[in-house]
Amino acid sequence: MLLNLTILPGDGIGPEVTDQAVLVLEALAEIFGHQLQLHRKNIGGAALTASNDPLPADTLQACLSSSAVLLGAVGGPAFDHFPNHLRPEAGLLRLRRELGAYANLRPAVCFPALEDCSPLRADVVHGTDILIVRELLGGLYFGQPRSIEGPAGSRNALNTMRYGEPEIARIAHIAFDLARKRRHKVRSVDKANVLECSRLWREVVTRTSQNYPDVKLSHMYVDSAAMSLVQRPRDFDVVLTENMFGDILSDQAGGIVGSLGLLASASIGGSVGLYEPVHGSAPDIAGKGIANPLGAILSVAMLLRYSFQLEREAACIENAVGTVLNRGHRTADLASSGQTALATPEMGHSVIAALADSGVGQAVPEKEKSA
Ligand code: IPM
Ligand code: MG
Repeated sequence: MLLNLTILPGDGIGPEVTDQAVLVLEALAEIFGHQLQLHRKNIGGAALTASNDPLPADTLQACLSSSAVLLGAVGGPAFDHFPNHLRPEAGLLRLRRELGAYANLRPAVCFPALEDCSPLRADVVHGTDILIVRELLGGLYFGQPRSIEGPAGSRNALNTMRYGEPEIARIAHIAFDLARKRRHKVRSVDKANVLECSRLWREVVTRTSQNYPDVKLSHMYVDSAAMSLVQRPRDFDVVLTENMFGDILSDQAGGIVGSLGLLASASIGGSVGLYEPVHGSAPDIAGKGIANPLGAILSVAMLLRYSFQLEREAACIENAVGTVLNRGHRTADLASSGQTALATPEMGHSVIAALADSGVGQAVPEKEKSA
């Protein structure tokens, strides 16, 4: 198969982790006989520096004409004082909108080898396997009007949380469909005791659930969900929630399973899927070569699964990540005292070695190879 991708390394640790993810993808493509066409483009701070636009036209064009996009991270302290539309984050938000990527899937899985990396007791975190389904194009992130206005000293800031029924229904369908491939449970998270948006959310999600009698729906307020996530993470299967709540709860889920550095994401629903690790640009460790590339590598697995239906290839990467963790390989975010921390490229190489060891290349039957 021809995999035509746009690669957006971005800022901070983005380029470091993306390099490793691309090396893993190249190794995998070699094993399974796929052909890669990669176009590297700027986004975020890197694009602001090069061309004064966090999402330059040629970057957007490349993304729209490829089959999927792999992104590292955007943002950094150098751009904190920039006006809103010229911040690195604005480039990412515009890209999500232009791609129509309304469904953000963020799995948080506790790898057995990492149970002792969690700040929670191993018996609490053991078996955690959550899929956060975050609405990505609505709510406070995109609601109009938005502004900061008024004379210095007495300015007012305004953001708008807005959701329409079709927007809620389409993300609910995604969550219910995904729950059918998992443990058949959806927990919808809102703040319906306070917010109109959440009351509508709850109503539409409940109505949508009638099409899925085999999926058990429950509702929870976001404050209570935050607590339950640390008390009983294993109770959660699919978490369905709006944009801002999903942003917050997904970082929390990363902390629970041992490191945000492990979390991958897929943003789908539009014409072209966007795949990115959840961790962000991590300016404090950027350029040191110590970032964890596993979130980016696992994002490649999601890319293969959701944009190309290459389930076997996706599972192969996920198994290789499990293998390197079982072998005791750790980046700095995962290493406990006394353990050697691998550098970013070393972790990438371990995953590639595990891919090769898995013998999948030989496992592809000859007749399938030539088909
Ligand atoms: C994320 C990030 C982004 C978001 C930022 C960088 C705009 O935190 O993907 O979770 O808030 O969506
Ligand atoms: Mg976030």
